[in-house]
Amino acid sequence: MITVETKNLTKKIGNEIILKDVNTKFENKKIYGIVGRNGSGKTMFLKSLCGFLTPTSGTVLINQKDIYKEEMFSNNVGISFSNSNYIKDLTGFENLELIANIKKQISKEDIIDALKKVNLLKEKDKKYGKYSLGMKQKLDIAQAIMEKPEILLLDEPFNGLDDESVKLIKKLIIDLKNGGNTIIIATHIKDDIENFCDEVIRFDMGTIVNK
Ligand SMILES: Nc1ncnc2c1ncn2[C@@H]1O[C@H](COP(=O)(O)OP(=O)(O)O)[C@@H](O)[C@H]1O
Ligand SMILES: [Mg+2]
Repeated sequence: MITVETKNLTKKIGNEIILKDVNTKFENKKIYGIVGRNGSGKTMFLKSLCGFLTPTSGTVLINQKDIYKEEMFSNNVGISFSNSNYIKDLTGFENLELIANIKKQISKEDIIDALKKVNLLKEKDKKYGKYSLGMKQKLDIAQAIMEKPEILLLDEPFNGLDDESVKLIKKLIIDLKNGGNTIIIATHIKDDIENFCDEVIRFDMGTIVNK
């Protein structure tokens, strides 16, 4: 059982307010959607949840602990960003292996299992540079799930995917939820998630808005 909360989470960069008084509470076994137009702060919000963006004020609490005070980098939170720094000349599998070697506790079987789940096993030995956008998206998701995080943060996971792949990824997300995971999905495409998430949180100009 894991809880993630933000309390008055605020981030300023220079004079720009990126996040403003964001109060959220995420519970187990639910799929959350973060919806909002481009630039509304979705990616920055996800980054703040996994320890990548120190707040200007306010807190991010994982299991009641302030992750920026305790300096614990949570292994419970896995994140999939669409612009991860993969190496073009390595295969998809080798890229994941490289990341797994840094994190230690991920085995080859975990990588294969993750690739299977996103239906990328056939392309695992293809060079990343030759991947289509959809394959890259799937690799991002495989990377996030290979360490079996309790909380999965997915940033625009449906970008560039054809209908069939969107269905596959949605099914995978539901399976993860049924397996006890919490999934937080950020997207600028409302149709992606309105009927799919247990809860939808709307962002505009770095803050939560009603409808
Ligand atoms: N590295 C950065 N430095 C300063 N401002 C940034 C940086 N990255 C994003 N921003 C700003 O933060 C705001 C929110 O961006 P972002 O979270 O990427 O939006 P979204 O994911 O909803 O499209 C935007 O105004 C953007 O210009
Ligand atoms: Mg974004």
